[in-house]
Amino acid sequence: MIKIQKVKLDEIPKAKRLLSYTWVDTYGSFFSKEAIRKITRVWHHPKTLAIQAKNPDIFFGVAKTEKGKIVGLVTVRKIKDSKIFMNRLYVHPKYQRKGIGKKLMDKAARHFRARKIRLEVEEKNKKGLNFYLKNGFRKIRKKIEVIEGQKMITIVMEKRIKRDTNKVRW
Ligand SMILES: CC(C)(COP(=O)(O)OP(=O)(O)OC[C@H]1O[C@@H](n2cnc3c(N)ncnc32)[C@H](O)[C@@H]1OP(=O)(O)O)[C@@H](O)C(=O)NCCC(=O)NCCS
Repeated sequence: MIKIQKVKLDEIPKAKRLLSYTWVDTYGSFFSKEAIRKITRVWHHPKTLAIQAKNPDIFFGVAKTEKGKIVGLVTVRKIKDSKIFMNRLYVHPKYQRKGIGKKLMDKAARHFRARKIRLEVEEKNKKGLNFYLKNGFRKIRKKIEVIEGQKMITIVMEKRIKRDTNKVRW
């Protein structure tokens, strides 16, 4: 049984390990090693993650096994009332396709009673794209940027959630 909970500050090192491992697994085939090293060093720095975990406008959730192992995480930021931006959604490769990604996303959306979710997914990330399309997101536009010397082509996606319930329907 997988439980989704808000990350605790003493769990940040474990969350960082999961994130870095899953990041390489996800982007290793299309981003350079150098770019991955530079980006993960900044984006996944424990201090950065701890600041996010303490921010009331951010929900930083982790998926845990019965034994307490962290196998997935999500971070979403409240943009304005009822609209959120999903910055991260990562599930350890050995635990993917078991419904954990959906559970993490549902919990984050419920936390803010979100009516609209926006996110950006790398165009070559087929797992991510499939997941979001399957869960009712639509493509808004393409975005091209260069981060740490790495060209990134991302797809901006959005999903509206029905108004008549506090429960998220996917
Ligand atoms: C995207 C991700 C978070 C989904 O989490 P998950 O726990 O695997 O998702 P769920 O089990 O809830 O849903 C499974 C669906 O995700 C998609 N998916 C997951 N793994 C996939 C794979 N290897 N190939 C293709 N689609 C895949 C499919 O749509 C799948 O549905 P299906 O099994 O009916 O085809 C997870 O695959 C992951 O961490 N990927 C790497 C990181 C990433 O891409 N994050 C999003 C960045 S914006």
